[in-house]
Amino acid sequence: MARTFSGVKPTGHLTLGNYLGAVRRWAEVDQHQADALFCVVDLHALTVDHDPGRVLRLSRQAATLLLAAGLDLAKCTVFVQSHVVEHARLSYLMECTATDGEMRRMIQYKEKAARERERGGSVRLSLLTYPALMAADILAYQADEVPVGDDQTQHVELARDLAVRFNQRYGHTFTVPKAVRPPVAARVMDLQDPTSKMGKSHAATAGIVYLLDEPDVVRKKVMRAVTDSGSEVGYAPDTQPGVANLLDILAACTGTSPQALADGYDSYGALKKDTAEAVVELLRPLRERHARLCADPGHVDRVLREGAERARALARPTVDAAYAAVGLMPAL
Ligand code: TYM
Repeated sequence: MARTFSGVKPTGHLTLGNYLGAVRRWAEVDQHQADALFCVVDLHALTVDHDPGRVLRLSRQAATLLLAAGLDLAKCTVFVQSHVVEHARLSYLMECTATDGEMRRMIQYKEKAARERERGGSVRLSLLTYPALMAADILAYQADEVPVGDDQTQHVELARDLAVRFNQRYGHTFTVPKAVRPPVAARVMDLQDPTSKMGKSHAATAGIVYLLDEPDVVRKKVMRAVTDSGSEVGYAPDTQPGVANLLDILAACTGTSPQALADGYDSYGALKKDTAEAVVELLRPLRERHARLCADPGHVDRVLREGAERARALARPTVDAAYAAVGLMPAL
């Protein structure tokens, strides 16, 4: 059975982008078809300026939302990255496999480092080595597939390259993974700035739909979405990114194609209204399950405890083998 691994970073409240681009597929497809592990990657949240209490709260919230989205302990493994020391152990070997140039070429590094510098802050070294830790997350579990949104494909490509290089240099140790992306909504855009990704850690929140937004807040954000200067509804991501984004979201919610939907609308207002209602309905069961899970924190604890145990048992032999392969002496 194929092995699947993916993760979400607790740097903000989860968004509609996270759900449509990744989490929904984990719950609806991956956990049923593969031996699947899903991880709240809290170590990655420390790569930028962070408030410890907030990371802690967001980690718990993200884990609870993954369960609310339908991930089920009986079908998959859900855990927190820092509970499994193998991630950090293997990350160091990935740093010893990757080059400085490879890390500096990563688009997310360039964007985030530029943002940090614009704010007058300094760039943490861990932001540069972020993809080494991400490769470790994936390779420690011998994952075949990594279901992610568009923005993570470059990182998964690097994990692939590192697996191939390590295997060539030290003997076959890792499965070579590949990224898998959803057919639509692989990149949900910000409703106020449809040329940039809807990102959970962005400061301006008016264009971001959070999974836990109240229905009226969702409606308001969608109805105020920036559209384009024309008035014809057509699917043209390059020239009409705002309308294309709404069509993508509606298509993802209703299981249709954005091109087919575009033919059915002759006004932006009607498209926005239907999109708002579709998103509200999509998120309703998730919000309800989230509220029930918050009332039963012991259940979330049990899932995470058992998840970390299973994850450790899977990762340890691979990481031990990688340590031996590079010439490190086994503990005596
Ligand atoms: P993160 O936390 O930014 O996002 C989690 C998942 O959601 C997807 N996503 C989106 N998809 C469509 N439209 C959007 N606007 C959107 N925003 C986010 C992301 O592509 C991702 O699949 N580096 C990763 C976390 C990570 C990871 C891993 C993922 C660490 N280790 C190993 C896979 C495997 C990240 O920051 O995701």
